[in-house]
Amino acid sequence: MKIAVVPGDGIGREVVPVAESVLRHLHPDWDYYPVEVGFGRWERCGAAIGSGEMDALREADAILFGAVTTPPDPDYRSVLLQIRKDLDLYANVRPVRGPGFSVTIVRENTEGLYSGIEWALPGSACTLRVVTDGGSRRIARYAAALAENGLMTIGTKANVIKSDVLFRRCAIEEAESAGVRWEEKYIDALCLDLLMHPSRYNVVVTTNIFGDIISDAAAYLVGGLGLLPSANVGDSHAFFEPVHGSAPDIAGRGIANPVAAIRSAAMLLAHVGHADEAAAVDAAVDAACAAGVRTPDLGGAASTVQVGEAVLSRMR
Ligand code: NAI
Ligand code: MG
Repeated sequence: MKIAVVPGDGIGREVVPVAESVLRHLHPDWDYYPVEVGFGRWERCGAAIGSGEMDALREADAILFGAVTTPPDPDYRSVLLQIRKDLDLYANVRPVRGPGFSVTIVRENTEGLYSGIEWALPGSACTLRVVTDGGSRRIARYAAALAENGLMTIGTKANVIKSDVLFRRCAIEEAESAGVRWEEKYIDALCLDLLMHPSRYNVVVTTNIFGDIISDAAAYLVGGLGLLPSANVGDSHAFFEPVHGSAPDIAGRGIANPVAAIRSAAMLLAHVGHADEAAAVDAAVDAACAAGVRTPDLGGAASTVQVGEAVLSRMR
């Protein structure tokens, strides 16, 4: 198995080695190779990613990613958006699990308001929100497959946005043809209701930016961004990363919570056919947290490395 390991920037460089050590513990024989992308590379070479790096990602059976810094510079193109597009990682899957609830947010990952079709003029700027029939149907099918025995909630603003009228119709048709129970909610009301009544939900499917926002908000349910993993999946490639960013406010201090990255590694394991190992990693994380080995974002005093050690010691 070839695993591309991309630390990226900021706390990505701290949490990814911990997540990698969990994978290496289980599979010392796999081929792990580092790939440098991100703002640091941009500062060194003037580009956040090169064609060699993109090829290295393409060759991997799975990619373990940390986070990248994206400066609010109009000339800087988000490397993450580029990777998601180039590898056609159309499904962004973000499970949020806690006592009494298990919700998976499925975010369309290649179009919508992050289409990258935009321009700035003096005094105005325009971003095109592109929603296609094909793009909507494939994400809806992906969500419907996850919702097999549950409820698929479709989040839109179809009351005011034309492109969401299309998304809504495609999602409903795909849910119907998959024989999955579905409901629809306006995304703003859904944000609140998900936080108030998470146990009512199973799978939430929505467009790119709405999924970005609702999944960060859902981090409230589990105690913060340091805990939430995600998968970016396409038909040919799979990429696993914490939901959080590079957290420059705490980077370099060794206190970033590695749990989101470790759980992302668990999602990677499940994806490549080791669901049992994924469950064991998640259980070890739960046990370490329950034993009080927590980073400061969770009110603890442990370091990134100490949390990693606590998880590994529970897996041995
Ligand atoms: P962020 O997720 O990096 O940080 C938000 C807040 O959560 C900060 O206070 C941070 O300290 C805290 N936090 C995040 N992860 C944590 C962890 N593992 N342990 C403890 N605390 C944690 O989001 P922010 O501040 O909006 O963005 C910072 C940079 O990250 C920006 O350049 C942004 O573009 C980039 N970013 C990258 C993402 C990615 O690579 N997937 C996703 C989101 C943001
Ligand atoms: Mg986000």
